[in-house]
Amino acid sequence: MSRVAPNQTAGGHVPVMLREVLEALSPKNGESYVDGTFGGGGYSRAILEAADCRVLGIDRDPDAIARGRKLVDAFGGRLTLVQGEFSRMDEFSGPTDGVVLDLGVSSFQFDEPARGFSFREDGPLDMRMSRSGISAADVVNGADERTLAQIIARYGEEKNARRIARAIIAARPIAGTAQLAKIVADAQGPAALRHAIHPATRTFQALRIHVNDELGELERGLEAALKILKAHGRLVVVSFHSLEDRIVKRFLTQRSTQAPRASRHAPPGAAARPLFELMTSLTPSEAEVAANPRARSARLRAGVKLAA
Ligand SMILES: C[S@@+](CC[C@H](N)C(=O)[O-])C[C@H]1O[C@@H](n2cnc3c(N)ncnc32)[C@H](O)[C@@H]1O
Repeated sequence: MSRVAPNQTAGGHVPVMLREVLEALSPKNGESYVDGTFGGGGYSRAILEAADCRVLGIDRDPDAIARGRKLVDAFGGRLTLVQGEFSRMDEFSGPTDGVVLDLGVSSFQFDEPARGFSFREDGPLDMRMSRSGISAADVVNGADERTLAQIIARYGEEKNARRIARAIIAARPIAGTAQLAKIVADAQGPAALRHAIHPATRTFQALRIHVNDELGELERGLEAALKILKAHGRLVVVSFHSLEDRIVKRFLTQRSTQAPRASRHAPPGAAARPLFELMTSLTPSEAEVAANPRARSARLRAGVKLAA
């Protein structure tokens, strides 16, 4: 039994669509799971409490792994943690009964100004989940105008991307998140302030996605999950914006309705077969969104791997 009090390890991060994740993953005694986005450990802990199973928790953020040590102690060896990218889960894990991904940043990361993810408080232009590699400052102060505009347009789906990129170039060097947020807001004029979301939201999202190569990670992560899932293994992904959801949807639908192209080395007549059966596509309940605004844009998709 767990010796951890309810929600203790999730701390500042409230797990999103937890009930639905558990239903889709359906943990069973003796099985093993990969939680590719350990974060505050909310999912891992719930999985370990739901069945006498094992979980491998992966997170690229060293702080998340350090915070998770208490949970490792509490579950007496049923939980193992690895620091790294979930795109490498096939290096970290053998065959598994389920993989869960809860994309994006945790509240621990978002709410700590020193990590540079938020425009609500001033902090350095960092945004690196893994605390290594290129930072937001490198991009904001180093990229040329065209590249900046492309990043903001593509990953922020921001229609004012060119105007924002021009304003950033004119104001460089930019020291922190508050200064960047003001430059981005000013570049869009007073009309942008009337929208429901802060005018810097899309630009910050774009920089974060670029700095962490989030979409590339997701594409490679789904392929890695496919490699390690056993027959009847479940893949459950919670995404938070349309760019992510599009990748998850395409991955699952292509592999469930349309077979991979038969190899030219396959025996004649060997039919290529679907790899997944779609299980579900869900959004959070109104009650959850009311209680946790971070859940607002969440979408859960799940599939079960078919027997070979
Ligand atoms: C939304 S939080 C997960 C919260 C977790 N489900 C919980 O209930 O506590 C996302 C976490 O995934 C991590 N992460 C994001 N992309 C990653 C990647 N490509 N590889 C490994 N970890 C990643 C982030 O560092 C963050 O800690």
